[in-house]
Formats: sequence, C-alpha cells, structure tokens
Amino acid sequence: MNIYFQNACERSFGTYPLKGEELANALHTALDVGYRAIDTAQMYENEADVGDALRGAAVPRSQLCITTKVHPDNFTVERFMPSVEESLKRLRIDQADVLLLHWPPTDGNVVPSLKLLEKAAQAGLARHIGVSNYTPAMMETARATLDTPIVTNQVEFHPLLDQQAMLRAATRTGIPLSSYCSVARGEVFKHRIFDDIGKTYGRTAAQVVLRWILQKGVAINTMSTKRANIEANFQVMDFTLSSVDMDRIDAMTKTGYRIVDKRLVPWSPDWDAAAAT
Ligand SMILES: NC(=O)c1ccc[n+]([C@@H]2O[C@H](COP(=O)([O-])OP(=O)(O)OC[C@H]3O[C@@H](n4cnc5c(N)ncnc54)[C@H](OP(=O)(O)O)[C@@H]3O)[C@@H](O)[C@H]2O)c1
Repeated sequence: MNIYFQNACERSFGTYPLKGEELANALHTALDVGYRAIDTAQMYENEADVGDALRGAAVPRSQLCITTKVHPDNFTVERFMPSVEESLKRLRIDQADVLLLHWPPTDGNVVPSLKLLEKAAQAGLARHIGVSNYTPAMMETARATLDTPIVTNQVEFHPLLDQQAMLRAATRTGIPLSSYCSVARGEVFKHRIFDDIGKTYGRTAAQVVLRWILQKGVAINTMSTKRANIEANFQVMDFTLSSVDMDRIDAMTKTGYRIVDKRLVPWSPDWDAAAAT
C-alpha cells in the first residue's frame, strides 16, 4: 500500500513557512493531535528546526513519516547526494521516508534529476521517492523512466482549482497525488458553500474541503499554527460527503483559482498549457 495511505499518513502536517519556536509549537501540537506525517523541504530552510522539534517530541521515529524535497539548484551529479545527506543531518535522521524532487527543472527535462533521485534511494537515503509540481506529461515521463515506484506527485489541490487533468494523469500513470494549499491559504473560506455543506454533517468548512480532497483519492497536506485548526484538519476520517455534495464542490473548481504559479514562483511550469495537453 502507498505510504501516504498508511498509519494516518494520508494527512501530512506541512511546515512552510514556519521556523524556530513557532514551528516547534505547531509541530508538537500536530503530533499531540495525532499527525505522524511531516512535510518539509530544503527550500523552506527549516529542516534543522524540524529535526530539533522532533528530537524533543515523545513520538518514536518508527511511527513518523518524514518527507523532504530536493531544491532544483541541487539537481546536479555533484550536488544532489551531498544535499540529501545534509538534509538528513539537519533532520537528525538516517533516511527520509519520502524524498521528493521539489520542482521540475526549468528546461523541462526531468530525466536526469529523476535518475539522481532513484540513485539516492538505492544508496539508502530514502525509503520512498516522489515528485512535486510535475505536469501530467512529466508524470508520464517519470513513470517511463524509473523502475522504482513514485509514491506521489505533490501539487496544489483544493476545490477552487480544476485539477481534472492531473487526476486523470494519476489514474493513467499510477502515481497518486498529494495536496498542498489544501485550503487555498484561506481563500476557500470566502465561499459560503463549504459552511453550508458542513452544517449538514456538523463539520467546519475546512473539514468539508479536506474531506473532499481525500474522497478525490488525494492525500492531504495542511499547515496551521492554531490548535483548534490543527485538530479540525486531522478529524476528517469519520464522515463521508455524499455524491451530491461532492458534485456541488466539484462545480466550484470552475473558478480556476491557482495560488502557486509563475506570478509567485517564476520557475513554475506553464500549468494552463500543461492542462490542455
Ligand atoms: N510542494 C510545493 O511546492 C508546496 C508549495 C506550498 C506548500 N507546500 C506544503 O504544503 C503545506 C500546506 O500548504 P500551505 O501552508 O501553503 O497552504 P494551506 O494549508 O492551504 O494554508 C495554510 C493557511 O491556512 C490556515 N488554515 C489552516 N487550516 C485552517 C482551518 N482549519 N481553519 C482556518 N484556517 C486554516 C492557516 O492559518 P492558521 O495558522 O491561522 O491556522 C495557514 O495560514 C505547506 O506547509 C508545505 O509543507 C508545498
């Protein structure tokens, strides 16, 4: 079974942009609430803070699923492996549970970095490997390039964004999706529909949004600094949205709202062109 769908790991606790004491407090609350999967990245410059916070936590390493991501600047033969070793040192672990390529390279040729990623896993630096921000075409290439299973493509996924092409690619390639910006950094709360649906189930708008993501077959990744929100985001396994409510939320994706694109991250793929293929 996919690591992101085992032992509570379908719900990861994201750590961007947290650092220092704020990160430690949020992470300790998340572990206390029940989170066991943690998402960080070289780019977040908080791996050492995550490592420190986990050292001070009561949860044994064997129960944790730690994901980190390799920065595209490190996608060279000289830099890739040493950068992962540095990540593990900062995290104070011997092996990442999941190692992702954070972004596709700007030239669009994903093959060399995929091969470096597979090598890192073969060297024992990662139990599982995956990618992030890959277009559907890149998912096909990844599938065709590697023998090692790719456990996820972590992408922006929430009800204000049409990710039908991405879901179809996940089915075609067998590479499951996991989400980021799952509550669209708060934008979903501007739409009353999620509150309205939540009332039927005695749930909050955030819980409805996260449950919709899970019922799409996508693992969720959320970040919050507040205990009430961290608890709510974790409590999404004990109710099911009806197909009518799923369809009502599906209709929201027509708004096409994307947070992470070239305006925010200049090296993002051209998502509109990618969806059209
Ligand atoms: N692979 C990538 O390229 C990529 C890109 C972006 C993010 N990520 C990862 O994905 C994680 C999550 O994404 P994100 O943090 O960007 O976006 P997000 O989870 O959509 O939004 C986080 C924001 O939403 C608020 N929030 C969370 N739960 C809430 C709730 N139940 N009710 C009300 N407000 C709530 C939080 O505020 P409060 O603190 O006030 O609760 C926080 O400001 C990141 O931490 C990071 O690990 C990956």
